[in-house]
Amino acid sequence: MRLPARGRAAGKVILLGEHAVVYGRPALAAGLGMGLTVELAPAAGPARLESDRPELADDPRPQMLLAEAAAALDLPARDFVARVRSELPAGAGFGSSAALAVALVRALGAAAGRPLDAPAELALGRRLETVFHGHPSGIDPAAAALGTCFRFVRGEPPIVTPLRPRAPVPLAIAFSGCPRSTGAAVGALRGRWEREPDRYEALFDGIAATVEAGREALVAGDHAALGAAFDRNQALLEAIGVSSAEVEELARVARRAGALGAKLTGGGAGGAVIALAPDTERVAAALRAHGARTVVARLEWMREETA
Ligand code: PMV
Repeated sequence: MRLPARGRAAGKVILLGEHAVVYGRPALAAGLGMGLTVELAPAAGPARLESDRPELADDPRPQMLLAEAAAALDLPARDFVARVRSELPAGAGFGSSAALAVALVRALGAAAGRPLDAPAELALGRRLETVFHGHPSGIDPAAAALGTCFRFVRGEPPIVTPLRPRAPVPLAIAFSGCPRSTGAAVGALRGRWEREPDRYEALFDGIAATVEAGREALVAGDHAALGAAFDRNQALLEAIGVSSAEVEELARVARRAGALGAKLTGGGAGGAVIALAPDTERVAAALRAHGARTVVARLEWMREETA
């Protein structure tokens, strides 16, 4: 093994289409500038993973991930330590598990002297992500690997189409602080869909239309139209029952502070809100005044930097 070696992967944000993506509709998502880095260094004994995240200390899954990733790359799982540094708040929907999987695959590929090509990297990243999550749609590893905006349709393999935003997309991201459970939201929606399939299929088609409108607006640099797609998607997310009073209030606060559109992102319920905000600082300040934690991001075309 060639040590030291390093791998980095991006965190993710879903712009449009969460939940409907589980039912085969397209989604729009992006890798963030914020991400996660894995450094491999020599260390005698069984391979081990050290993380700057205290919540991972007693979690056996990162260790399982390390063993599986090494095996997939035909490397012995010994005589190295993998040190993880993350800029992503865990459990906030930034895709930190998938970023860990992809960064680890990249670091091990570098150590083996044979980095994987993009499709192989994504396939392995998806397989490894299931160590953490049961049956996700696979958006997170695609964002981790791409680091830029893309259209996504789930499948074996998924269809991932990178998109070049005409202009950087300024986002304020807010966390309501309420505990979120993507699994519970996905499961409850499935029950409603089973009882009223026609109604929910029509709503998912509506979401798919906002995704395609948002994709065109992103590529054209039309932020007013992208913001309008956020708002239409939020109304449909409310209609399928995955929003919450907190999320709707934060979206209203963002719009009042000048956001061109705002919606929940990810699993929903108590989770995070994204606002398309030319003046991100002003919108973020308004969201903080409402008790939310905030992060600002600018989505750009940056594949070369993250490759
Ligand atoms: O809550 P997150 O950020 O893990 O996003 C979940 C997105 C869903 O569409 C609801 C589920 C999925 O697997 O795509």
